[in-house]
Amino acid sequence: MDLATYIRALPKAELHLHIEGTLEPEMMFELGRRNGVALPFASVEATRAAYAFQDLQSFLDIYYAGAAVLVREEDFFDLAWAYFRRAAEDGVVHAELFFDPQTHTARGVPFATVLDGLERAAARAREELGISSRLILCFLRHLPEAGAFATLEEARPHLARIHGVGLDSSEAGHPPSEFARVFARCRELGLHAVAHAGEEGPAAYITEALDLLGAERVDHGVRCLEDPALVARLARDQTPLTVCPLSNLKLRVFPTMADHTFKRMLDAGLRVTINSDDPAYFGGYVARNYLETAEGLGLTRKDLATVARNSLLASFVTDEERAPWL
Ligand code: HPA
Ligand code: ZN
Repeated sequence: MDLATYIRALPKAELHLHIEGTLEPEMMFELGRRNGVALPFASVEATRAAYAFQDLQSFLDIYYAGAAVLVREEDFFDLAWAYFRRAAEDGVVHAELFFDPQTHTARGVPFATVLDGLERAAARAREELGISSRLILCFLRHLPEAGAFATLEEARPHLARIHGVGLDSSEAGHPPSEFARVFARCRELGLHAVAHAGEEGPAAYITEALDLLGAERVDHGVRCLEDPALVARLARDQTPLTVCPLSNLKLRVFPTMADHTFKRMLDAGLRVTINSDDPAYFGGYVARNYLETAEGLGLTRKDLATVARNSLLASFVTDEERAPWL
C-alpha cells in the first residue's frame, strides 16, 4: 500500500478547520455571481495566483474578502457540504469546525443563517457520509472584547447547537488575556474552550491560553518549544496541539517542511495532531498535510498512526462515540 493510501485509510478527526477557509476559488466565484457580490479578483486563476502570503495578516486580508460571498443559508450549506465530501475522501470520521460569526454578522448576515446552513450540512454528512461533527464558534481577536461579548449574546439562543468557543484572527499584539472574561463566561455556560496560540505569537501566549482562557486544546502551538517548562507541562497534561503544517509553510512560520518542528514535538511526547486550517488557501486538505509532513520530516507509518489516534483522543466526543474508532 502506498503512503497516501495508508494515510487515507487511517480513521482521523480534523480539529483545526475554519469552514470559511474551505471556500475554493471556483465556489467563491459561483457564490459571488449568485449573490451579486463583486470580488477583488478577475478570475479563478487570478485568485489562486494571489495566494502568495507573507504572513498571517496578508492571508487574513484575502480570507475575509473572500468570505463576503457567503450570504444565504444555502451558501453556508454548500460550503460545509463540499468540505465534508472532501473530508470523507481523506478518511475523516469526525470534524470539529470553526466558524467566525463576526465575519458574517458584521455584513448583516443573521447569526442563525450561518448556523442553519452549517448544521444542515453536518446532518447530511452524518447521514450520508458517516462523519460526525461539532461546531466551535471563534471570536475574532483583532476586534474588542465587547464584540466577543455581543457575539456570545447572539449565540445564546443557539448554545445547544454550539459545542465550544475558540479564538482566532491576528495573533501578534492580541494576547489571550484580552479575552479572559468572555471565555470565563463561556465556560460557565458549559462550552468547551480552545484558542489559537503560539502560531505567530510567543510561547507566553500559549501559557495565557491555558491559564487565563482555560483552553483544553491549543491551536497551532508550534512556538511552545521556545519554553522548555511549557513543553514539560503540555506533555504531562497531554494537552492536544492542533498543528497545521501546510498553513505554517504558506504563512512562513517555517521556511520549509524540513524546518518544521512537528517531529520534535511528537518526539517530546506532546499530543500533536495534523490538520488543514484553511485548505482552500494553503494547498491541501488533511490527508495532504499528513503526507507532506511525513515526507518532509521522515515520519514513519507508526508515527502517522499515533497522530491519527491523537486526533481521535483529542476530540470533544464522548468515550462512547470514540470507542469504535480506536
Ligand atoms: N490563524 C489565525 N486566524 C485564522 C487562521 C489561522 O491560522 N485561519 C483562519 N483564521
Ligand atoms: Zn486556524
